Amino acid sequence: MKPDLSSVSFSGDGLPNSPKIIADKINNLDDLNTIKQDVYSVGGIVDDLENKFSKILNKEKSIFLPTGTMANHFAIRELSGSNSKALVQEQSHIYQDSGDTLQTISGINLIPLGLNSSFFTIDEIKDIIHKNSISRVPKNIGCISLESPVRRQKGQILTIEYLQELYDFAKENNIKLHLDAARLYMMTSASKIPIHEYTKYFDTVYCSLWKYFGAPWGAILAGDSKLISNMFNTRRMFGGSIPNSSLNAALILSNLEGFEDKMNDSYDNGIKLFNELNKTDKFNILIRDNHSNVFEMEYKSTDEYSKLRNHLINNDIYLPDLNAENYGIINNSNYVDIRINISILNKSIKEIYNAFIGS
Ligand SMILES: Cc1ncc(COP(=O)(O)O)c(C=O)c1O
Repeated sequence: MKPDLSSVSFSGDGLPNSPKIIADKINNLDDLNTIKQDVYSVGGIVDDLENKFSKILNKEKSIFLPTGTMANHFAIRELSGSNSKALVQEQSHIYQDSGDTLQTISGINLIPLGLNSSFFTIDEIKDIIHKNSISRVPKNIGCISLESPVRRQKGQILTIEYLQELYDFAKENNIKLHLDAARLYMMTSASKIPIHEYTKYFDTVYCSLWKYFGAPWGAILAGDSKLISNMFNTRRMFGGSIPNSSLNAALILSNLEGFEDKMNDSYDNGIKLFNELNKTDKFNILIRDNHSNVFEMEYKSTDEYSKLRNHLINNDIYLPDLNAENYGIINNSNYVDIRINISILNKSIKEIYNAFIGS
């Protein structure tokens, strides 16, 4: 059995997706006849999408890209200019999960900092800057890229105090900053800090458009007009100018409507549920500092977990499959990562609680 749009699922950041679900959603768009067409991802409704996100992210301009991997690549490439080194978190997607894309395609070396941690310190940056300034071939650091929430670190988020400190340091040293906020709304729903308060520290910001807006693909990259305006040429050069993007843009815009409020409510419901479950002696769900929508739930044995999981599936509630591929993300033994997403709004907290307790 698989979750559908009416299920509650504790996996993933959005509602379940499939070819059928996407086709149905496209069919249900109420303005199919009036969707303004783009040409190679330029103009039409794609413009509307880009303008919408420029406002949301409070930046001058945005560009619609096929993937977040490309968005991070373009941001670091542009911000670095002629400098061939950029600093990234060792645990970031761009360092761990993007196949050395910047090193291979753009000749930019990523220097990983903060081993096995969600962040690195200003002292670590100072150390690298110093070493590069006294090396045989002195080099400047082109930019610093930060991911928040950090996917490989249980969705931990960077604090505003940290961002302020980093921003001050970067300004003083004339270093540009990029934010990989693939899961932007998972961060703001947890911290309750407005989106602008995060994006103001960064020259460029990327947000995923497929992970939780029900679309098959898409990413937005926002920044200064000077930086983004000509990027459609880079997109074409990289083979990323999808010839017809309008349907996808329309789908994203329709699912964006009200999403921030839904995610906020979902997060609040999830926390209430976890706190209630923790009051019983049956459940232990860790609620850590600086988490976003990822929580670790303890289980006694795989057999017991599987019993609970099957019982919940009978109630149309889905816990993660312990055997799902995790691409090297290390889980503590006898803990499973559970995620809050908007599917939690499909049932009342009471109903979900009763299903857990009745196991
Ligand atoms: C934090 C983070 N950044 C970037 C990406 C890349 O996004 P895409 O899969 O759209 O290339 C992902 C995707 O998993 C991610 O989790």
